[in-house]
Amino acid sequence: MSGNSADGRVPGFVPGADNRKKLHVITWGCQMNVYDSLRMADVLAPLGFTSSPLPDGADMVILNTCHIRDKASEKVFSELGRLRLLKQSKEAAGGRMVLAVAGCVAQAEGAEILLRAPYVDIVLGPQTYHRLPEMVARASRAAKGGPVIETDFPTEQKFDFLPEASAPQGVTAFLTIQEGCDKFCSFCVVPYTRGVEASRPVASIVAEARKLVGQGALEITLLGQNVNAWHGEAPSGSTWGLARLVRELAGISNLLRLRYTTSHPRDMDDALIAAHGDVPALMPFLHLPVQSGSDRMLAAMNRKHTAEDYLRLVDRLRDARPELALSSDFIVGHPGETETDFEATMDLVRKVNFAQAFSFKYSQRPGTPAAGAPHQVGEPDKDRRLQALQALLRDQQGAFNAACVGRTMSILVTGPGRQPGQIGGRTPFLQPVHLPGSLDRIGTEISVRIDAARQNSLVGSLASTSNLIQERACA
Ligand code: SAH
Ligand code: SF4
Ligand code: F3S
Repeated sequence: MSGNSADGRVPGFVPGADNRKKLHVITWGCQMNVYDSLRMADVLAPLGFTSSPLPDGADMVILNTCHIRDKASEKVFSELGRLRLLKQSKEAAGGRMVLAVAGCVAQAEGAEILLRAPYVDIVLGPQTYHRLPEMVARASRAAKGGPVIETDFPTEQKFDFLPEASAPQGVTAFLTIQEGCDKFCSFCVVPYTRGVEASRPVASIVAEARKLVGQGALEITLLGQNVNAWHGEAPSGSTWGLARLVRELAGISNLLRLRYTTSHPRDMDDALIAAHGDVPALMPFLHLPVQSGSDRMLAAMNRKHTAEDYLRLVDRLRDARPELALSSDFIVGHPGETETDFEATMDLVRKVNFAQAFSFKYSQRPGTPAAGAPHQVGEPDKDRRLQALQALLRDQQGAFNAACVGRTMSILVTGPGRQPGQIGGRTPFLQPVHLPGSLDRIGTEISVRIDAARQNSLVGSLASTSNLIQERACA
């Protein structure tokens, strides 16, 4: 099903009229939601919608939601309450605001949203937003006909129906290559909200990457819930794995940096490990979630690997690319986790030495196996473990950043810095860097001497005017 009507006209578009309408998109959750929000704006652009930084007075507001942890739906309802007031004042002024809820809460709790917030016009899941033009047309036609809900998992892939990106993403860009998840970790809602694993074909990924580079992107991050499970159809009809795709994309001229996230340890194959060794554009920073260092917990989580498997994998990656810096995700307090299990996580962290990491208290997600499991861990234990783990991870991150001081690093300048007169960018290891410099450096890769380290960022000064240097390691 395409976004346009059968005669090729876009619903709601009146030729010759001022069709500009304000669209405001609020994005919560992972980078895939960030990408989806951009693509929703692309889909709506032919209807005359242009992005607006504020919801006030907007003709359409999309709340793109996340269901991964905590009080996800309560957060949605409280935001909807706020948006309802804006919708009412727009109506009082004789206008109309179309209010849509998208993303993973919409997928999981669409019916509940319409029940509790009947003023919502459209509820749509992550796999149906290519149909937004029709949904908007239906919602506009039928103020009385009730809200529009589209939370099925269509047989068609939305990517086949999305228009080309209209607004440039900037120096760094996201590109979703893989969707959904078949792994069913005990704690996780993603397989239920995003559906089964699906990979985009090579040709459409390469075309989008070229378009992004043409629009000024120098760095592309390939996205997927299990991005390294990607296996897409090549033009020859054969199936490629992620390593082959990375090599293909690295050949695009002017594309300086490639990253991918989020990967699963089980899908890290030999070819991908080798690519880290010999594809210079592939940045030496990898987000590789492990969740726990206890084999008992890893089994309970259905991760299907052991702590030792993870450590061996890290060794192999570092053999391929010695300066590789690692990041990870951790969950403390999964049902059944004991003090001994938690200590095993601390041990693993000490052994790997992470450059950065995210850690969370286990959160019961409705409909997931762990939610109903016995031996739920009490809040005080979860709190204490999270604090201990975060203190260790903070120390490791601080040490990693401190070790960069005095080095010269290659920085991709992405925008203005924190202070006036500063520019900001990222190291190959994804650390934010601020330095004095003029804004015409934005969109270049420059050599920067690192002068000071903070917990989450670095401060530097221009080392030379020439582009691209070789020294990249700093840990
Ligand atoms: N696909 C990725 C993770 C996606 S979700 C992977 O397999 O690693 C991002 C992170 O949120 C997870 O890695 C996990 O650490 C955290 N998370 C997911 N469900 C959670 C839950 N129920 N409670 C706490 N943290 C959770
Ligand atoms: Fe969730 Fe596990 Fe799938 Fe990651 S691999 S998205 S944690 S079910
Ligand atoms: Fe959240 Fe859905 Fe992403 S639950 S983390 S927005 S896949």
